[in-house]
Amino acid sequence: MLHNLLQEKKGIIFGALDEHSIAWQAARSIKAAGGNFVLTNTPIALRLGKLNQLAEECQATIISADATVVADLENLLEQAMTVLGGKIDFILHSIGMSPNVRKQRSYGDLNYDWFLKTLDISALSFHKILQTAEKLDAMNEWGSIVALSYIAAQRTFPDYSDMAEAKAMLESIARSYGYRFAKNKKVRVNTISQSPTHTTAGSGVPGFDKFYEYAERMSPLGNASAEDCANYIVLMFSDLSRMVTMQNLMHDGGFSSVGITEQIVDTL
Ligand code: NAI
Repeated sequence: MLHNLLQEKKGIIFGALDEHSIAWQAARSIKAAGGNFVLTNTPIALRLGKLNQLAEECQATIISADATVVADLENLLEQAMTVLGGKIDFILHSIGMSPNVRKQRSYGDLNYDWFLKTLDISALSFHKILQTAEKLDAMNEWGSIVALSYIAAQRTFPDYSDMAEAKAMLESIARSYGYRFAKNKKVRVNTISQSPTHTTAGSGVPGFDKFYEYAERMSPLGNASAEDCANYIVLMFSDLSRMVTMQNLMHDGGFSSVGITEQIVDTL
């Protein structure tokens, strides 16, 4: 199905931790579509995760980088261009973490140093990647850059806490930088707003299982899986979507357009 869609395309994939990660599935689909890439994650994730396994499967090089550190990103982009033999066609930002969510601080009792960390890791890192790529002139024309978001950017889901603000900022950065990158280099920038998905980050949200089940019943097609998301990412990196930029693209089985469903009514 994905045959050759990304033939000759080179990229960087942030955020594969284990086989549940959306980025892990994306790497597999991108490889199946003919793309080549460098895999990256933080030094600690490289120690604790299973990235070597994925790198072997996809014949990809791993370059460690903390996406909040600009010097790491400069090194990553420069090394990636060397390893891949030229400029980059696609970048996937699949990064999210909130210390407040992880340590179960309530929204009325947030630790503000942690809040800033949430924003830095989950949103500002996207700007840092975009700005570093532009400054290093690392992107090919018609390249495509995607970050993963969640509908809590638009609607309140109480347990999502300060990640909601991070996602709102992430989507705003995609619009603002998308404008600039389109004008300067014909590079497109989008976010994909994904259904709840069983991953390390997803399952860290309190009450995730109920949350997942609710979304499943509220989505006419059901929740989109990580594999579905991976295929959508392939589409967004391919030339078939070349005029799409500055968008937040809902990938949620219809959830965002539904008021209520029979399955929810039946439970009341
Ligand atoms: P995951 O836990 O597998 O991936 C999160 C990744 O972020 C990990 O690989 C982690 O090492 C990386 N990361 C954390 N801090 C970093 C830093 N400073 N620099 C570089 N990488 C860093 O979980 P998942 O779900 O695959 O998350 C990927 C993206 O998808 C996140 O943006 C998440 O918010 C988003 N998303 C997830 C949903 C879900 O229900 N799982 C739903 C909608 C969006």
